[in-house]
Amino acid sequence: MENQNKPIYTAPGNQEKIDLLKKKNEEALLGGGEARIAAQHKKGKLTARERIDLLLDEGSFQEVDKFVMHRAKDFGLDKEHYLGDGVVTGYGEIHGRLVYVFSQDFTVFGGSLSETHAEKICKIMDMAMKNGAPVIGLNDSGGARIQEGVNSLGGYADIFYRNTLASGVIPQLSAIMGPCAGGAVYSPAITDFILMVENTSYMFVTGPNVVKTVTQENVTAEELGGASAHSTKSGVTHFSCKNEVECIRHIKEILSYIPQNCEEIAPVYPYEMKDDESRAELDSIVPENPNHPYDIRDAVRGIVDADSFLEVHENYADNIVVGFARLAGRSIGIVGNQPQSMAGVLDNHASIKAARFVRFCDSFNVPLLVLVDVPGFLPGTDQEWNGIITNGAKLLYAFSEATVPRITVITRKAYGGAYDVMNSKHIGADLNFAWPTAEIAVMGAKGASEIIFRKEIAEAEDPEAKLQEKVDDYTAKFANPYRAAHRGFIDEVIIPSETRTKLIKAFKMLENKVDKLPRKKHGNIPL
Ligand code: HXC
Repeated sequence: MENQNKPIYTAPGNQEKIDLLKKKNEEALLGGGEARIAAQHKKGKLTARERIDLLLDEGSFQEVDKFVMHRAKDFGLDKEHYLGDGVVTGYGEIHGRLVYVFSQDFTVFGGSLSETHAEKICKIMDMAMKNGAPVIGLNDSGGARIQEGVNSLGGYADIFYRNTLASGVIPQLSAIMGPCAGGAVYSPAITDFILMVENTSYMFVTGPNVVKTVTQENVTAEELGGASAHSTKSGVTHFSCKNEVECIRHIKEILSYIPQNCEEIAPVYPYEMKDDESRAELDSIVPENPNHPYDIRDAVRGIVDADSFLEVHENYADNIVVGFARLAGRSIGIVGNQPQSMAGVLDNHASIKAARFVRFCDSFNVPLLVLVDVPGFLPGTDQEWNGIITNGAKLLYAFSEATVPRITVITRKAYGGAYDVMNSKHIGADLNFAWPTAEIAVMGAKGASEIIFRKEIAEAEDPEAKLQEKVDDYTAKFANPYRAAHRGFIDEVIIPSETRTKLIKAFKMLENKVDKLPRKKHGNIPL
């Protein structure tokens, strides 16, 4: 006979299982809980998920590893678990193109990086590599999860290693939207572009307290490693953004100029060539007086498609301008000396800034347009002792090894070594144009005359008049583009207003360019 008192086990039905999943999903969405979300908002910061919503096309986000939890047991961590473990990871689309994202959740252990948190990031990086799409990191973290010790450090190193392997294969973008301290800064540093949010983000290897202890220096977090410091002084960040919304807009804009991976080209925007693409304003951009400055960005705007210029590193080393633009709907990278800052001279910072940009463009098949107005390299002990030889060589090396289509336009001065370095024909540029205002010589007429005619000038009855005579003579001979054109170092001297038309045709001609470097493991760029 059956025992009537025995409890009957009823397995949960499908609906109950689905309800449990829904409950877990809702729990995961809350991260570290309502109170910490409110605290995040109070600081003027969005949550990890709100950032992803802003970044990706609506409804496109597919989350991975939502229920991952840490495995740590020390310091009470065995009693404190949050689904997702402080980072939201997955994939989605931006303007219909696949991207992978990780977004650190400051509401869970301050976004700190545990072993499992790192595993989640590595997983989507591996997927991005296999499927050839960009990785975007939204960083907001207190650094290594202190309770986990070396497990956390190992997690960081796993990420750094993947960053390095992915470099030049898929684009990697890092937005800094909160603290980013200690070793955590090195993952962003290896990626292609860093964007920081003003007043709510900072990056440093050691914070203000350690600085005070070691160097007795009093400095705030913002002064030490805020967006302003890193966009103007160190050059660590490429974009300083007013707020998180602007930061995310910039990420999308950068992606519009670059391809998914190193095997593809950037998206081509529809463009209909007009009968007359000439831009009259270019004819009067270079001032009559060769010592007067002008803004090279006016020349850029006179050449590229309307409103298509995105300047990179805008506030750093402003004696050189770099950025992306479109020409007849196609993406190009622009490097231009800036005559209105230090006469456009090449110095340590400008050389490093431009070299890094050139290498990015070459890695990802973005053709290069180089606008030259450069009086030479900056002389002096500061420059020499800080390595202008090595740093100038970086730019020389970067141009020389670039195999993308490369076109140069000399608008005015191309003096000395800087003539060679700025994408000259001799280091592999495909087409070199000059405006009639170009001056291509070893140095300026006055300096040159003072050296080569020193004795004659000193012995002259009127040395000043003699110097002027020699300057005029040197100017007549060299302050023009024709000597270089006679030798074929300049392919064509063009009327400035026709530059845009010439460049559209020239880049079209170079569309299928194939160029290969000699077989090697990798080059040894002077670092
Ligand atoms: C574990 C952390 C944490 C961390 C913050 N939290 N940082 N938990 N490990 N690294 C927790 C806090 O305990 C707190 O938990 C919550 O996150 C929010 O932190 P608060 O301090 O309340 O926030 P705030 O005042 O905004 O300050 C943020 C902060 C500060 C500046 C990031 O928390 C801080 O200084 N953290 C330590 C930073 C650090 O030294 N990291 C290690 C760097 S060394 P509750 O429960 O209260 O919400 C490193 C080595 C990597 O990263 C080397 C790789 C090679």
